[in-house]
Amino acid sequence: MNDPDSSAPEVPPLVPSGTPLNLEDFRRAARVALPAPVFDYLEGGAADEHTVAWNEQAYRRKALAPRVLTGHTGVDTRCSLFGAELESPVLLAPTAAHGLFHADGEIATVRGAADAGALLTLSTFSSRTIEEVGAAARRPWWFQLYVQRDRGLTADLVRRAREAGAGVCVVTVDTPVTGWRERDLRNGFALPSHGRPANLAGAPTHAVTGGGIHDPRIDPAVTWDDLEWLRGVAGLPVFAKGIQRADDAGQAAERGLGVWISNHGGRNLDTARPTLDVLPSVVARVDGRVPVVLDGGIRRGTDVVKAIALGATAVAVGRPYVWGLAVGGREGVRDVVRALRRETELAMALTGVASLAGLTPDLLVPHLSA
Ligand code: FNR
Ligand code: LAC
Repeated sequence: MNDPDSSAPEVPPLVPSGTPLNLEDFRRAARVALPAPVFDYLEGGAADEHTVAWNEQAYRRKALAPRVLTGHTGVDTRCSLFGAELESPVLLAPTAAHGLFHADGEIATVRGAADAGALLTLSTFSSRTIEEVGAAARRPWWFQLYVQRDRGLTADLVRRAREAGAGVCVVTVDTPVTGWRERDLRNGFALPSHGRPANLAGAPTHAVTGGGIHDPRIDPAVTWDDLEWLRGVAGLPVFAKGIQRADDAGQAAERGLGVWISNHGGRNLDTARPTLDVLPSVVARVDGRVPVVLDGGIRRGTDVVKAIALGATAVAVGRPYVWGLAVGGREGVRDVVRALRRETELAMALTGVASLAGLTPDLLVPHLSA
């Protein structure tokens, strides 16, 4: 036959063309969907953005050594963390101002996360209030705290989060000042009104000292004692987010604080170590006393597998689910989380393990040519 259609495949393709297949596809679609300065705010990091790149590259410096003929017939990615039952060990890291990326803001995010069986950590700087998000949440969610100069306001934020249903308080400790973000400076980027922090509306603005480098909404002078105070005030388990060294991880574990390894996605201190490189020494120091979460540069299921194999209890993603939010709102968030879970399941099956507990450090070997 000379019918020009005869070469068309009889079976429709598994994925219709144009459908995002992996996280990088979502990134490209978000770049098209968002105004350039908003995409730059999301994507960018501090100074030369070395740490942004290193976080991702660190995974390519480890190769997998899969085990064969293990006889497993399925994989189980379920993970339990402070009473939350999760479909996979991938959490949604706190990111500010979802109103910039979608009209429904954090309401879309918390619903999309729940649709995928995942957990959102709500930023202090959310565009929707703690109470609005708590009311929309159908599954466990956590609250991220930036300690405010006013300790009364700080205690109030945590109380509001607990009353709205947050299960854990994640205190960010890597941001005494925000980083030198040259994309934002060049773009003259400032949060528009739909991106302003709803939780702090009406809060007094504090005079800033310290050479103009400080943010009036973040207290630079937080110490370990403050975290102990917070743990009492919160009445919730507390994570210290932004741990980058083993001795600090030891301090956290001694105080019963969960350890969240992060360099803020390379947005604060450029040339800070990639988080995957920090992980082994932290895991050794913590020695199972408290959970260890890691974020920064997770883009593939194999990245999840590598971090868990090196001892992380769970991992978190920041930018990727915001790409989903920008592209498709609630469904976009859901689809990003599902894509990562599917890849994680495939990576586990092909590595020869059936559960997260089966992911052990011997599955990784250094790979120096990347
Ligand atoms: C962040 N991050 C962040 N962290 C935090 O504790 N509170 C916050 O409000 C924010 N806000 C924020 C906004 C945006 C746009 C980004 C990209 C990141 C940091 C975030 O929680 C996480 O540490 C990194 O995003 C993880 O790196 P990846 O997954 O983005 O590479
Ligand atoms: C950021 C701040 C809000 O990384 O944490 O943009």
